[in-house]
Amino acid sequence: MAAVSSPCSLKHFIYPSFLPYSLTVPSLAEIVTTMLSLFTNLLLFLSLLIGLCNCRVTTTNEEVQTLNTNTHFNPQVPPLRTLSSSKRFEGSSEFVKLKYHMGPVLSSPINIYLIWYGKWPQSQKLLIKDFLNSISDDHHRASPSPSVSDWWRTVSLYTDQTGANISRSVSIAGEYSDLRYSHGTHLTRLSVQDVIATAVQAKPFPVDHRNGIYLILTAEDVTMEDFCRAVCGFHYFTFPSKVGYTLPYAWVGNSGKQCPEVCAYPFAVPGYMGGGGPGHLTPPNGDVGVDGMVSVIGHELAELSSNPLVNAWYAGEDPTAPTEIGDLCEGLYGTGGGGGYIGSVMKDGEGRTFNLNGRNGRKFLVQWIWSPVLKACAGPNALD
Ligand SMILES: *[C@@H]1O[C@H](CO)[C@@H](O)[C@H](O)[C@H]1NC(C)=O
Repeated sequence: MAAVSSPCSLKHFIYPSFLPYSLTVPSLAEIVTTMLSLFTNLLLFLSLLIGLCNCRVTTTNEEVQTLNTNTHFNPQVPPLRTLSSSKRFEGSSEFVKLKYHMGPVLSSPINIYLIWYGKWPQSQKLLIKDFLNSISDDHHRASPSPSVSDWWRTVSLYTDQTGANISRSVSIAGEYSDLRYSHGTHLTRLSVQDVIATAVQAKPFPVDHRNGIYLILTAEDVTMEDFCRAVCGFHYFTFPSKVGYTLPYAWVGNSGKQCPEVCAYPFAVPGYMGGGGPGHLTPPNGDVGVDGMVSVIGHELAELSSNPLVNAWYAGEDPTAPTEIGDLCEGLYGTGGGGGYIGSVMKDGEGRTFNLNGRNGRKFLVQWIWSPVLKACAGPNALD
């Protein structure tokens, strides 16, 4: 899996027919046509290359080149437009009444069972799995600071009534691909439990009622009740009548096509197509939908771990609409965020925005989490 030992490098390839075109003076139409065909050829070649070598575009050389050129910046982008924005709290306050309601948190090592619902390209699966595999502390293969595992430390500060902290060990315990959309291309909050039941009934996918959580990731052609309008992801627990056990689960959808300006913020921002106003940011892995999804997955995993049965950590009096540890910091990624600023984050030599390092040289942009110790939103890329 390590990108370091990649058998092929894109650097050995120089497009042979580029030079002659720069010596003549072609018409605009010719230029456009040529550029298009060059681009198409390049894309074809790249996909062929990636298919043949099964290698990753990220190489160690690129990392070395961009390592020292990271710059800090605090971009202003149009505000996040979600229904939960009323729950958002930018900064710190004694007025945020986050309370513990005596229920369990995920204090034993967390086993994630991934359900890929619909058709998922391998490259997108690898990106999401690299993020999930970056959460655990691994002294042998630690990512440079600020890392995804440093980010999870804020989550692990939450405890249950016995004083047990949320586990710092998170791993992918199993995967199931539902390629045939067994419950259709439109899901509801309830039918997503049928998807889990189908996965659990498949032989290689166990019911892990001690440490298991389910993460259902739907492809970009799957619609979900309230997706975009109200939610980019949610978490809950399964009903014994549906799945046989009460198991915490989360759903996150790929918003690449449906509503990137809501769920892949700030890589897509409202109205950026029309020009005017500050633009969107460049995603760290070149995939607007999935790079945006990573932050939503982080948000849901943090909340699922601190409020798995919806009776542990949340603010507000209404358990059916709890304000949880991710909600409080939505849209905030660094120091000095708020009022349209996302906070101080990093930009690499190629202009890609990120705030966390992960496995295999990956970079991610993940929202901050409310800290019960600081009583403020916190993240490892804080400047102070
Ligand atoms: C557990 O949580 C407490 C309270 O937030 C914190 O002080 C402590 O450092 C945490 N322990 C670990 C091992 O993370």
